[in-house]
Order: sequence, then structure tokens, then C-alpha cells
Amino acid sequence: MAPLSNLQTRAIETLIHPYSNQATIRETGPLVFERGKGVYIYDTDGKPYLEGMAGLWCTALGYDNDELVEAATAQMRKLPFAHLFTAKSHDPAIELAEKLKEMAPVPISKVFFCNSGSEANDSQMKMVWYMQNALGRPNKKKIISRVKGYHGVTIASASLTGLPNNHLDFDLPIARVLHTTCPHHYRFARDGETEEEFASRCAAELEELILREGPDTVAAFIAEPVMGAGGVIVPPKTYFPKIMAVCAKYDVFMIDDEVICGFGRLGTPFGCTALDYKPHSISVAKALSSAYLPIAGVMIPEDMYQALITESQKIGTFGHGFTYSGHPVSAAVAVKTLEIYKRDKIFETAAKNMPQFQKRLKALGDHPLVGEARGMGMVGAIELAAVKRDKTPFDPKKAVGAQVVAQAQADGLIVRVIAGDVISVCPPLIIKPAEIDELFDKLTRALDKTLDWAKREQLLAA
Ligand SMILES: Cc1ncc(COP(=O)(O)O)c(C=O)c1O
Repeated sequence: MAPLSNLQTRAIETLIHPYSNQATIRETGPLVFERGKGVYIYDTDGKPYLEGMAGLWCTALGYDNDELVEAATAQMRKLPFAHLFTAKSHDPAIELAEKLKEMAPVPISKVFFCNSGSEANDSQMKMVWYMQNALGRPNKKKIISRVKGYHGVTIASASLTGLPNNHLDFDLPIARVLHTTCPHHYRFARDGETEEEFASRCAAELEELILREGPDTVAAFIAEPVMGAGGVIVPPKTYFPKIMAVCAKYDVFMIDDEVICGFGRLGTPFGCTALDYKPHSISVAKALSSAYLPIAGVMIPEDMYQALITESQKIGTFGHGFTYSGHPVSAAVAVKTLEIYKRDKIFETAAKNMPQFQKRLKALGDHPLVGEARGMGMVGAIELAAVKRDKTPFDPKKAVGAQVVAQAQADGLIVRVIAGDVISVCPPLIIKPAEIDELFDKLTRALDKTLDWAKREQLLAA
């Protein structure tokens, strides 16, 4: 193994790198990046990498958008900080909330700003509880999420997240958070079950859970349109209409986590439109500012807003908010981002490139290492299988997915292994057709090299 560079050594001596094995990173060191241009980022040796994950599913406009830099600079010069506490306000936050309300897929009354997707979903939970108290329903507080859902890492949002690594030894989930069936047909459908039948079963299992817990104790259901970090799971046909009917039957508030799917990722401004459902409230983050600065939002309906008024009258204030809620520089960058999306028809152009993206992605399904290639819009994943015909996964200890990521990285492509041996791709929305081909050519080569390695290691079933 090559000796660590000065920056790598300083990194491991000073930083806790999130979502990294804290032991092995001490041996390998991190990959240190220096600059970005278009859909490429460059390491400290000047080597380019096609950013096949848009960072963390977020840099929709790529890495060198001057207008966003100018929007930040201008706002920093004018008013670098102002807050929204204690009846204060400012123009960038107002304008951003107006723009979000305008483009919302359902009637939105107000927007609460925060700094991350985790904070947005924490705030959603708090506001649901607050609303139930305002409505005189103090027992209707449980929130249902899904196995493999990803909603963040703070104590409440990590509880909503349905992945073992976010719970194990963190003593989570907290009480009043429940998880229902993961809508992944490839992994969880029964033999011969069609997508529609599986969707009906998911809805029936949600209903059973609500009835078991007592409908008067279940407040909300939270879901991503396409599940991201849990494995890029596209729900089976008819899933959301069936789930929404169950929510409506038991007066369960629907929280739509659009942190990845919002802003064009599925070919529509919001993912819920592409998947045919109308939520009550919406969480947004990531591509809201193309990730140039941290900002997130909770978009709430009028009846929830009325509850905040009722509680404020009772308690004297709405006791929630972050120092940087609606930070003016982040808000100004987000306003500019939304302007660019509209002016440059970013969603429409991305939508035109999506069939090519999906065609190249799905073609990987024929590769001997791949059990399923799945995706929608400009996001996808390949799930590796040791035995294709019966979907047997590889022994996790063999880290076959990590091998694909390492081969891709050596070849100048960033992809990510998530939720087992699942490799995800989610490039910036501005990716061009030739770059889509480059991404999949490199990913194919990484799979081929991994196949050779797996054969040498005798990891494939005979
Ligand atoms: C759907 C979804 N919700 C919430 C989050 C949490 O966002 P953050 O990492 O900004 O806290 C993420 C992050 O990837 C996400 O994908």
C-alpha cells in the first residue's frame, strides 16, 4: 500500500470521516479532493473523476457554476447574516419560500427552513406532534417509516431511517417510531407475486400495523418517492396510490421526503408527481441549493400552520428554530439555483437524457455479477448477486461491492456502495449524453475487473 500523503495523514489525525470505517481509513487514508469543474472533481494529484454520485446525491448543477458563486458573494457583501427568530425576517428567505410555494406539487401554506435533510425530518416529526396536541389528540403520535428508508442521522431522523447501521449501538430507534414493509419487489416479493400484488400486500401490511397499534395512536407515515440510500428502490406499480388510501382511511398525515428526489431527479420538479401521490408536507434539501451551501426546508399545509398558531397562542411562542434557519447567503444561493433550473430548463433537459441513462443502467442487468439493475429518472443502482438465478448475495465480508467502487475510482469514476452490495449512481443533472456513456463505460469496466477478481477469489458459485 502506498505511503499516506501529508494531507491524508493530517486528515486521519484530525477528522472523523462520516460513514467511513474508522479503523480501515487509518490504513488507507481518504481520497482528498481539491477542485471541481462541470461533472468532474479532481484529487490533489490533479486526477479527474466523473462524479457519478453528484457528491451525496446533491450537486445537480455540477461543480463550477459561477452564478451561484456570485449570488453567495453578493449576499455576503450585503447582509452576511440575519435570522428569522423573534419576529425578524429578510428578503432572501421570503423570496425562497415564495418560489417553493409556487412550484409545490400540493397546496403549501408556509415553509420552515433548516440546514439539512435530517433537521428537516426532525422538524417534521416535531410539528406533527405539536399539531396533534393542538388538535387535542395527544395519543396520536406514532410515526411509521419503512425498512430501508433513509431520513437522516439525528436522533429522531435516524430512528425514522430503517437501516441497521444507523441504529446498531446508537440505541435507536426511539419510541413511537415504527417500520413497515420495504417496497422492493426483487428482494421481498413472494414467488410469482406481480408488482401490483406486491403493492397491495405492502398496503395491507401497513394497514395491519396501523390496526395492531391502534389508529388513534398513529399520526404520520414518512416515505421517499424512490428510496435512495437504502438501495435506490423504485416502488412497485400502484404502490403509492394504495398506501395513500390506507393513510387517508386512518387519518394518517403523509410526509414526503423529497431530499433526493426533489428538483428534477425523477424528471419532474418533485418525485411525488412522478409516482402519483399527493402528500401533506414535504422535506427538501440537497439540490435546493445544488449543495453549494447547506439549506433545507419543511413545506407544510394550512391545517398544520393553523396548529402552530393555536399552540403559539397557548404557549406564547413556537419554540423551534435553528440559528441558521433560512440563512440569507444559503437562501440567496437557493433562490438563484431555482432560477437557473427554470431559466435553463434543467429538469426538462435532464428528462430528455434519462432514457439513455436508464437504458445503459438496465443493460448492466445482463452482467454476470449483477442480480438487478434498477432506477428511475437520473438515479439508479445495481445490486450484485453471487448466484443470479436465486438472487443469493455475496458474503458481505468479501466486500465485492467495495471492489467495484475501488476499480471505478482507479479508472476515474466515483460511485458508491450502499446497503449491502448495491452500487448507486446519481450524477449531476447537467450531465451530458457523452458523459453518461463515459460513466457507464467506466462502470462496466469496473464490473468486468471485479468479475476477474471474484473468479480468482472463487467467490462465484459454480
Ligand atoms: C431522503 C433523505 N432524507 C434525509 C437525508 C438526510 O439529509 P442530511 O444528510 O442533509 O441530514 C438524506 C441524506 O442523504 C436523504 O437521502
